Amino acid sequence: MSVGVVIVAAGSGTRLGAAQPKAFVPVAGAPLLTHAVRAATAAAGVSAVVVVAPTTHLDDAAALVEPVSRSSGIPVQVVPGGAERGDSVLAGLRWLPQECDIVLVHDAARAFAPPELFERVAAAVTEQTPAIVPGLPVVDTIKVVDDDGFVRDTPDRASLRAVQTPQGFRRDVLLAAHATHGSSATDDATLVERLGLRVLVVDGHPAADKITTPADVVRLERLVLSEP
Ligand code: CTP
Ligand code: MG
Repeated sequence: MSVGVVIVAAGSGTRLGAAQPKAFVPVAGAPLLTHAVRAATAAAGVSAVVVVAPTTHLDDAAALVEPVSRSSGIPVQVVPGGAERGDSVLAGLRWLPQECDIVLVHDAARAFAPPELFERVAAAVTEQTPAIVPGLPVVDTIKVVDDDGFVRDTPDRASLRAVQTPQGFRRDVLLAAHATHGSSATDDATLVERLGLRVLVVDGHPAADKITTPADVVRLERLVLSEP
């Protein structure tokens, strides 16, 4: 088994509203992309990483990842991303070495997902369970609403999970999912669900929450800096 990681970092970060794309914004002492590549290369079993970067920032991305690749001994390739997240995932998959039969797809925006989360997800990918997502129980009551804002349904909270990345897949299954259902989802597991395959949720990690808004930066910075 050989594990490859695709880190998607090609988004612009509109909701964060920083001067540069989100992956290059420094939080807790380093750009988000640097934190994400450090965690991926520190995870046991990972043999290659592909970073999918904005076409405008390929050199900047290469400069950030080079020292991490050198000190970890793990090859890290930087490639250009696409218009939607799904396009960027596919772009990264194309560059992943053939020997990687397990693929972890990770958002650079979840920069503080720890190496053990990568390891937990990769270890859960098997022939019988080809698609794994980390998730946490939901604390709020969630309502499903119609176009006019009226509540249609209140799902039982106990059955809900807020899912994160890295999400892990057998490479052939992920390629089939993207080939069949394109880039039309906010995560990769959804595409596998549409193939009719079962997706297993394993325990996520609070530090793997996504940085989307300036408030998320404050919250996650506090979380990671308070850890021992
Ligand atoms: N992403 C990507 N290529 C895209 C869009 C998103 O690689 N065309 C990546 C982002 O870089 C991020 C992850 O997908 O790591 C999750 O996306 P999101 O949090 O929505 O980031 P952005 O699209 O950059 O932010 P926004 O939607 O606020 O513009
Ligand atoms: Mg986005």
